[in-house]
Amino acid sequence: MKRNLTIVFSLLLIVTFFSAFNLNGSGKQNAKNGPDSILADRKHYVDELRQAIKGKENMPADSVFKNIKLLKGVPAGKLIAIMNFGYSNSLGVSCGYCHEPGHWESEVKPQKEITRQMAAMNAAINNQLLKNISGLQSANPIVNCTTCHRGSVKPALDMPAVK
Ligand code: HEC
Ligand code: HEC
Repeated sequence: MKRNLTIVFSLLLIVTFFSAFNLNGSGKQNAKNGPDSILADRKHYVDELRQAIKGKENMPADSVFKNIKLLKGVPAGKLIAIMNFGYSNSLGVSCGYCHEPGHWESEVKPQKEITRQMAAMNAAINNQLLKNISGLQSANPIVNCTTCHRGSVKPALDMPAVK
């Protein structure tokens, strides 16, 4: 129960973050991470899905999509923005890294379930570990996917050599 609340809280943070940039169902997109072919691929699927859910952007994702375990209650239009800006952009990949495109509800790629567990780890860092460190500069310090991944599937362990 406590874990569920933690996840919900952290999702709220993500949703707030996206709201701040006005990335609602019809918002303009300007994701910048990755070569043009990756961006074009993502745009293709995002446009297709936006068309498919037209009129249902503000309905809860779990009532519009088929297999929602993590992003329950998040508006369907925002789920698409999270997929594009939150997940794909942070890892520097296109949708096919976690999905078989078109079969979005499928669990055939392990990266999809790994992502749910990453989100839970992320929530634990934000809501338990980081909260208990006093004297930080921010009132509400957080980490997100980008903090570690920075556009790569594998987070770096070393700084590039300083010249
Ligand atoms: C890093 C992994 C990852 C990437 C990249 C990713 N997704 Fe997802 N996607 C997920 C996860 C995890 C879920 C399930 C969320 C849940 O359980 O609430 C999901 C769910 C979905 C769903 C709901 C499917 C259903 O019927 O249940 C759609 C649609 C979707 N993604 C589209 C996309 C699109 C389009 C892209 C590219 C712009 C994308 N995803 C990129 C991990 C990813
Ligand atoms: C605290 C750092 C950290 C945060 C925050 C984090 N990750 Fe990760 N992530 C990692 C590490 C470390 C790995 C394992 C890399 C390896 O295999 O060496 C990983 C691996 C993954 C993988 C598996 C990649 C593969 O194919 O092997 C996915 C998918 C992923 N992360 C998605 C996410 C998403 C989405 C978020 C945000 C919800 C996120 N991560 C947040 C550190 C992080």
